[in-house]
Amino acid sequence: MRLSLRFVLPLLLVLACIAYGVTPLVDRLTLKWFVRDLEIRATLIANTVQDPLQEQLALGKKAKIGDFFNRMTQDERLYAVGYCATQASTVLASRSLPAVIGCASLGRWVDPGDHLIESARGPLHVAIRPMVSEMAPGAQLVLVHDMSFITRRSEETKLYVFYVFLALAGVVSLVTVIIAQLSWRGWMSGMRSLLRGEGLLRRPEFNSQPKLPGFKPIARDLQRLVNELEAETRARDESQITWTPDALRTILHTELRGEDVIVVANREPYIHQRRGERIDVQRPASGLVTALEPIMRACSGTWVAHGSGTADREVVDKHDRIAVPPEQPAYQIRRVWLTAEEEAGYYYGLSNEGLWPLCHIAHVRPTFRSSDWDHYVAVNRKFAKAVVNESKTKSPIVLVQDYHFALLPKMIRDELPDATIIAFWHIPWPNPESFAICPWREELLAGMLGSSILGFHTQFHCNNFVDTVDRFLEARVDRESFNVSFGGKPTAVRRYPISIAWPPDPELLKKNVLECRSSIRQVNDLPPEHKLGIGVDRLDYTKGIVERLRAIERLLELNPDWIGRFTFVQIAAPTRSGIDEYQQHEAQVRAMTARINSRFERQGPPPIILKVEHHESPAVYEYFRAADLCFVSSLHDGMNLVAKEFVAARDDERGVLILSEFTGAARELPEALIVNPYDADQCAAALHLALTMPELEQRDRMRLMRGLVAEFNVFRWAGRMLLDAAAMRRRGRLTGKRDEAES
Ligand code: G6P
Repeated sequence: MRLSLRFVLPLLLVLACIAYGVTPLVDRLTLKWFVRDLEIRATLIANTVQDPLQEQLALGKKAKIGDFFNRMTQDERLYAVGYCATQASTVLASRSLPAVIGCASLGRWVDPGDHLIESARGPLHVAIRPMVSEMAPGAQLVLVHDMSFITRRSEETKLYVFYVFLALAGVVSLVTVIIAQLSWRGWMSGMRSLLRGEGLLRRPEFNSQPKLPGFKPIARDLQRLVNELEAETRARDESQITWTPDALRTILHTELRGEDVIVVANREPYIHQRRGERIDVQRPASGLVTALEPIMRACSGTWVAHGSGTADREVVDKHDRIAVPPEQPAYQIRRVWLTAEEEAGYYYGLSNEGLWPLCHIAHVRPTFRSSDWDHYVAVNRKFAKAVVNESKTKSPIVLVQDYHFALLPKMIRDELPDATIIAFWHIPWPNPESFAICPWREELLAGMLGSSILGFHTQFHCNNFVDTVDRFLEARVDRESFNVSFGGKPTAVRRYPISIAWPPDPELLKKNVLECRSSIRQVNDLPPEHKLGIGVDRLDYTKGIVERLRAIERLLELNPDWIGRFTFVQIAAPTRSGIDEYQQHEAQVRAMTARINSRFERQGPPPIILKVEHHESPAVYEYFRAADLCFVSSLHDGMNLVAKEFVAARDDERGVLILSEFTGAARELPEALIVNPYDADQCAAALHLALTMPELEQRDRMRLMRGLVAEFNVFRWAGRMLLDAAAMRRRGRLTGKRDEAES
């Protein structure tokens, strides 16, 4: 695109110049030159005919003079000749003399200049020359030249000029493109070598000389400039890719030379559960799993996870590995076994009673026990060992997931210094004041800074993290580039908003929306035209389920018309039920549902249907497609993929999304009805608005949201991280080479 612009622009410029500047100039100049020639020619002819004409006049043979003049006009350019003895006499002329020229009117053409007259044949040039005669001292010769040849010549000249300029423009454009390309590359590499202290400042023979400190500020500015340019190029390149599993695979093969990718996440994507004689494969309810699973299918790596299923040990090989997905294996899970104590301390304790509430700030106090911390450290070490075992090279790409593994990046870095470690924090990062209450804040931060890249969903969370590091560690924080340097090792802190696979699996959209609407209403004993809302979450206090129920109650108080005409189905997957807080939360949700239902149930179907059970994706999608609205009311959420899944499920472009402003998703989906879940009245108003929203408006909003999810899908999320990792590895290799050369 840029290349063609560089070529076409100079070309257009030159053509415009030809049309508006060169052509009129050529016209004017050729006319001027030819008129001057005609004037000279007229004088020459007048001088030549002077004597023969005087002789004829002396003989008084006027007829002969006419013949003489007629013969003269056989010349190609001389159109007519005339002679006037005095102003009062009759003109003696060739037959072709235009009628406008008479002896009385000759004065008009005496002065030199462009004496042009129009005739049927085209423009004519009139020249008057005096004839030296004793008999007639004021006699004058009229010479009329045909100028049509000038027009012909001028056309030919214009054509030549046009071709010459066109050729010139082509050459200029070509030269521009070549120079631009060469100078861009040259400039970029020149800048890089300058920043490395080579090139302009240091010739190879002076390589051992120390860098000049005086150039440091300039080098810093230039470095910033190069970074910006690189970021711009990256953004351009990235937006030009159609993000599919194949695109991801290509990145791995080309940019990362097909290296194996290792993912570490506590939750495994397939859990084997023993149910009597049978072994069931369960897909857990986890946004992290939803996002990473398609990536692993595309990359064929290894997923290291806690083997938490009751039949997990029965199905693995002797290396504790199993190929998945069961129906079409594409990658492998490496299961790590935890004792009950380890699970209690590391998973339930520090991760979910400590870090989870610490980061979400959802008014549940974090609990920190030193025994939990010890288990957390030990389990992180166990996983680090598994990663080292699984890595086939000394420099694998390791994707460390979430708050369960804050210490892992540093532990892996200690064992595999050349690994590219990308850690992603799937939950919010709080402000430094909130984080400060954690007794192991420094250890956690230092562990995370073992990563090469550290990702969060939003810039806000990146800012909070960098502020926290600045507050509690002796680290160098560059707020311009968002790079943190701790213990001499750099970590890039970046924003990568997570997403879902797009296009969604066609199997999930197989049943059409009308069928979904009627079957879901039938299953739940609801009339065919009954309005339906849907909520799908883990039964977690951060999801704002209590606030959601309160909003529904408020809707029915404020708009009693909806009583018996609207039902909200809440699917709540049981989660972390070993933790008191979760048990209390479940009890609270159940009690609240019962209370609201008994308050409004008298007039038909209940306002709330609570389903505390795990639902697999096809069932969830059927509800999404059947519903009139989806309500996501998290009190704080890194992203929330349920919002994006609802949008993906609605290929009919109908349905309204109500979305908490405290989710990362709200920043990407402003076309949803954005609400503050703590404000029951506002949420009730949003519910009413959603239930009465015209179809056209639903379509417009849904179309925009679908466009965004399609463009920024999960392959792009992973692809961006991997592209950044690839660039980092390239830079590392270059620096390594330079260091080698210098040592
Ligand atoms: C959140 C976390 C994930 C976690 C998921 C389910 O999305 O960010 O790391 O897997 O919740 O929680 P669970 O404790 O069941 O893994």
